[in-house]
Amino acid sequence: REFVEMTTEQTFIAVKPDGVQRGLIGPIISRFEARGFKLAAIKLVTPTKEHLEKHYEDLSSKPFFPGLIAYMGSGPVCAMVWEGRDVVKTGRAILGATNPLASAPGTIRGDYAIDVGRNVCHGSDAVDSAKKEIALWFKPEEIQSWKSAQFDWIY
Ligand code: TYD
Repeated sequence: REFVEMTTEQTFIAVKPDGVQRGLIGPIISRFEARGFKLAAIKLVTPTKEHLEKHYEDLSSKPFFPGLIAYMGSGPVCAMVWEGRDVVKTGRAILGATNPLASAPGTIRGDYAIDVGRNVCHGSDAVDSAKKEIALWFKPEEIQSWKSAQFDWIY
């Protein structure tokens, strides 16, 4: 079995300031752990405006951009790297649709949010953007490589 290929895709997941303030770090981590994904990096950080402008550079022309940057920089964010088979796409499914009112119940946004401007969590939308976001938020030495004891049963 191509164990390494199945388990090494990585995505950037963040609990946004509203999620941190509302005590949702635990429930969000639980969903990724219970699904079988592996936590590779985690830290609490209050991002600077410059950092957020880089993170959301593709959205800089949108009318909601200034409000988004202010909200994301308003307090600590829980930044994480999660690893596993198809974790980028599956992570987005765990988060739910961008607009929480369109998110299915059972997703994080579908269970915990109502407003698109306070949607609790972030997840990379493609393997390429995941690589860019992980490099923006983490130094290589902050990312751990380890084998979960459960893996022979998850894969
Ligand atoms: P986007 O990258 O389109 O969504 P996602 O976070 O699901 O990848 O947008 C980034 C964030 O911008 C989104 O999580 C919430 C905010 N946003 C608004 O505040 N208003 C909007 O109309 C949209 C589309 C996004």
